[in-house]
Amino acid sequence: MARILTGIQSTGTPHLGNIIGAILPAIENSKDKNNDSFLFIADLHSLTQIKDATVLKNNTYSVAAAWLAFGLDPNESVFYRQSDVPECTELAWYLNCFFPFQRLKLAHSFKDKSDRLEDINAGLFVYPMLMAADILLYDANLVPVGKDQLQHLEMARDVASRINHKYKNVFIVPEPLTTKDSMLIPGTDGDKMSKSKNNTIDIFQGNADIKKIVNKQIVTDNIPLEDPKDPYISTVYKLYSVIADEDSAAQMAKKLQAGGYGWGHAKKELISIIETKFDNPREKFNYYISHKEELDIILESGAAKARKVAKATLDRVRNQIGY
Ligand code: TYM
Repeated sequence: MARILTGIQSTGTPHLGNIIGAILPAIENSKDKNNDSFLFIADLHSLTQIKDATVLKNNTYSVAAAWLAFGLDPNESVFYRQSDVPECTELAWYLNCFFPFQRLKLAHSFKDKSDRLEDINAGLFVYPMLMAADILLYDANLVPVGKDQLQHLEMARDVASRINHKYKNVFIVPEPLTTKDSMLIPGTDGDKMSKSKNNTIDIFQGNADIKKIVNKQIVTDNIPLEDPKDPYISTVYKLYSVIADEDSAAQMAKKLQAGGYGWGHAKKELISIIETKFDNPREKFNYYISHKEELDIILESGAAKARKVAKATLDRVRNQIGY
């Protein structure tokens, strides 16, 4: 039996990168009877960026609705809000005290965010230790994540090993789980898709908005329509290929390479596949957003299950370190 665990920050509605990089692989793995899974909304992490209570709360509902829209079964998985399990912040403190400051300073995501964001708070700096606590608290074996989180996973493994080395087998050392598609979904500007880069595609939006974003924001080169184009360096093709089946993606690549097929044509196909492929999840998402009371019930029941496991781990840790 392997325990799968992963979380999505509630900094907004999950975008295409979150969905392909983490939500879909995590749900796929949770369906395997040999696994049990802990899937959650990382709403404490989002406090590093969001200081508006209403926005924070609504984002939590959006992330919950997105998980459920893609088929998470709350009876099969432990599905919860990170902030409902205060044991997590206690564990994060212990981990902070065992992890070298100099090593935390090497985190790419902190450097990246501190270069771009205005609010560079201490929470942003210790973010990887809160993430490590999320994972170690539940004795997770496998963590499905996108490529951008691999360094954080390495830090979680590192801090677990340091503590295991000093005391006796306190933690399970987790492994990341990435897929070909989760390696890195580009945003509309070709850079990594990320809320804080303002380059996301929100598949839960209405069709008119999706059309506008694809047509107006996805960057393309100005090679004439009749000329051959390289699909593999194009954002339109990269996005299409992670959504479409292999055959359809190969067909688009061929048409681009042959010439006589322009970016406008490719964008039209991309819009059409986003609309049809995500039609059903969009409907479910909208249902949950207008039935938030159902989300509260589901998340409260998940938190009760999560806390049981969390308390047992924390007892073990406290005991070992001398409390
Ligand atoms: P977050 O909320 O930024 O992203 C959630 C998940 O989506 C993946 N992802 C991507 N994958 C491919 N291409 C992209 N452009 C892309 N953008 C995001 C991320 O890799 C991630 O898997 N720190 C985490 C949340 C977290 C967590 C955890 C994850 C908190 N505690 C414990 C796993 C285990 C984060 O910021 O993800």
